[in-house]
Amino acid sequence: MSKEFEGKVALVTGAASPIGLGRAIANRLASEGANLVVVDLNQDAIDKAAQELEKEYGIKAIGIACNVTKPDDCDAAIGKVKEAFGRLDILVNNAGVLKDNLVMRMSEADFDFVMDVNCKGVFLMTKSATKLILKSTDGRIVNISSVSGLTGQPGQANYSASKAGVIALTKVFAREFSGRNVLVNAVCPGFIKTEMTGTLSEEVQKKLTDPSFIPLKRPGKQEEVAATVRFFCSKDSAYITGTYLRVDGGAAIGM
Ligand SMILES: NC(=O)c1ccc[n+]([C@@H]2O[C@H](COP(=O)([O-])OP(=O)(O)OC[C@H]3O[C@@H](n4cnc5c(N)ncnc54)[C@H](O)[C@@H]3O)[C@@H](O)[C@H]2O)c1
Repeated sequence: MSKEFEGKVALVTGAASPIGLGRAIANRLASEGANLVVVDLNQDAIDKAAQELEKEYGIKAIGIACNVTKPDDCDAAIGKVKEAFGRLDILVNNAGVLKDNLVMRMSEADFDFVMDVNCKGVFLMTKSATKLILKSTDGRIVNISSVSGLTGQPGQANYSASKAGVIALTKVFAREFSGRNVLVNAVCPGFIKTEMTGTLSEEVQKKLTDPSFIPLKRPGKQEEVAATVRFFCSKDSAYITGTYLRVDGGAAIGM
């Protein structure tokens, strides 16, 4: 039996960290036959990720250094995808950053930085990828948002606004690309222990993983987010576009 993503090419941004969500998503798609383009800021780190994917899953993978806040970097990255594979079927906009502070202490620079990477980066990479992915007969775009974008979190004016923006972009893309059968959805993870959340203070980490705050009484796992992204990339979600799924153990039920 052929694998779900055999013959397809997937690009995942922010995939360098071995314990990050991007890598777990790349692993899951590669394990089902997709060839992978992994993108992150540092060339050595992303080359290493690509080599590990090829070795582990026997697929073809390339690593590209690209800052998603720079239009030229995004265009160059998609140029390399075209050169290496000639096609793009799946785009996962996962790159993201945190820079928490209370509104009264948050600098304008920190607000702009987080908005630029998390929200504008999704716009720029998608814009660059549009021509190529619209040629796919069954294209998929999955944007990684956050429950913080649904509920708003104290200390996260920049992050919550950026992730709410990602949901709005998801709806716009879904409408604009529907005529070419490119489906666009978002995933909103709750708390998952990665390099990013490791930068939060112990007090905040404790609060976010407090069992009384999470109905399923535990933090999430990278693989659980990857499984939801996999669903949105698969044939099983063929009639779903312009929506989001929370992967948060119930933390934001009702949102
Ligand atoms: N971990 C969580 O609890 C959690 C919860 C909700 C949403 N998310 C979202 O999931 C995504 C992945 O987060 P993670 O926890 O794996 O963090 P992570 O820090 O491990 O991964 C983020 C990656 O993005 C890369 N990156 C940052 N800025 C970039 C840029 N300008 N261009 C290209 N790459 C860039 C980083 O180098 C890093 O490898 C993020 O969008 C994050 O906001 C995470």
